[in-house]
Amino acid sequence: MSLITVVPGDGIGPEVTEQALALLDGFGLDLTFDVLDHVNADTFLATGTALSDDDLARIRRSSGTLLGAIGDARAAGTRYARDVLLRLRFELDLYANYRPATLLHDRLSPLRDPDRRAIDCVIVRENTEGLYTDIGGALRPGSAAEVAIDTEVSTHLGVTRVIDFALASATRAVCMVDKSNAVPNGGRLWQQCWRDAAAARPDLATSHLYVDVAAMRLVADPTAFDVIVTNNSYGDILSDLAAELAGGLGTAASVNLNPETGFGLYEPVHGSAPDIAGTDTANPIGAILSAALLLERLGHPAEAAAVRTAVRTAVAHLRCTVDLGGRLGTKATGEAIRAALH
Ligand code: NAD
Ligand code: IPM
Ligand code: MN
Repeated sequence: MSLITVVPGDGIGPEVTEQALALLDGFGLDLTFDVLDHVNADTFLATGTALSDDDLARIRRSSGTLLGAIGDARAAGTRYARDVLLRLRFELDLYANYRPATLLHDRLSPLRDPDRRAIDCVIVRENTEGLYTDIGGALRPGSAAEVAIDTEVSTHLGVTRVIDFALASATRAVCMVDKSNAVPNGGRLWQQCWRDAAAARPDLATSHLYVDVAAMRLVADPTAFDVIVTNNSYGDILSDLAAELAGGLGTAASVNLNPETGFGLYEPVHGSAPDIAGTDTANPIGAILSAALLLERLGHPAEAAAVRTAVRTAVAHLRCTVDLGGRLGTKATGEAIRAALH
């Protein structure tokens, strides 16, 4: 039996998570769900913390966590994200953020050239360092003389392990993306770790791009990429870009993984989308494909493949939400995908 913790979260998070859970339920696998539906912005605003130590202990005892989205305009700034999402990534040491981008249907690509549309790549984002460590501070805050410092952290261990994970995930090619022409110290470390690790994998095509050119190349020729490995903030940005090239942000799945413990936090790449929350228009595919990543990691690859096929079938028949050219709501799209499974 596998116990899965579930954090529906905020905005469209609960709406899309409901569809992912309904789909998992339909397989009749030995999965049980521990739903932490109090982990949201309301709890954070009322008590100052949304994820308690007890919640974290429940999560640690589970085989993985499905998360909807965390974010609310009433809790702007970084404290709330750090209380939940970043706490989970950091304390569970989920250092590899695996974000696949595979075109779901030709009509969904924003690119003109049909030969360039078939993006099928993975962004492997370093998930526990970079600009996300909260190391820094402000001097003379609020004054015209304010100094604001956020430190970008790269460690030899952190860079090496995420590069090793990316190389181990690839079958064809890995491109390391950095900004070593402008960021001297972290740039040198990424370059050194990359050269050492890539040299040990002559079977793979290994290459390097600066992040600005990588963004350009992703649009100009997304089919050129297989696995991209990069730091925390570049991975955040490039994964939204790749998601849009692959069909739209609402379709993008991810897992925040610790490859050693095997623990994963599975979540769509998108956020809580407050502009459409509560309207039954959110696309549940990002959440559903994140559940497919969970199935795969739990040892159910056939079920994971069936989910992906069902998603493609539903999208091809326009049994999907308006962002993908369909007319269905969130719930009806989830039903259509479940129907395509059987
Ligand atoms: P967002 O991803 O929530 O939304 C960006 C745009 O994409 C919006 O127009 C939204 O309507 C649309 N969109 C997103 N998901 C969609 C879906 N499933 N179906 C259809 N349309 C969809 O980004 P944002 O507006 O910058 O952020 C909103 C909140 O979410 C913020 O508080 C942010 O910090 C948070 N956030 C959380 C996560 C996460 O939990 N992993 C990720 C990104 C943003
Ligand atoms: C993501 C999100 C988060 C991030 C935010 C909400 C802190 O954008 O998961 O991509 O930047 O990692
Ligand atoms: Mn993001």
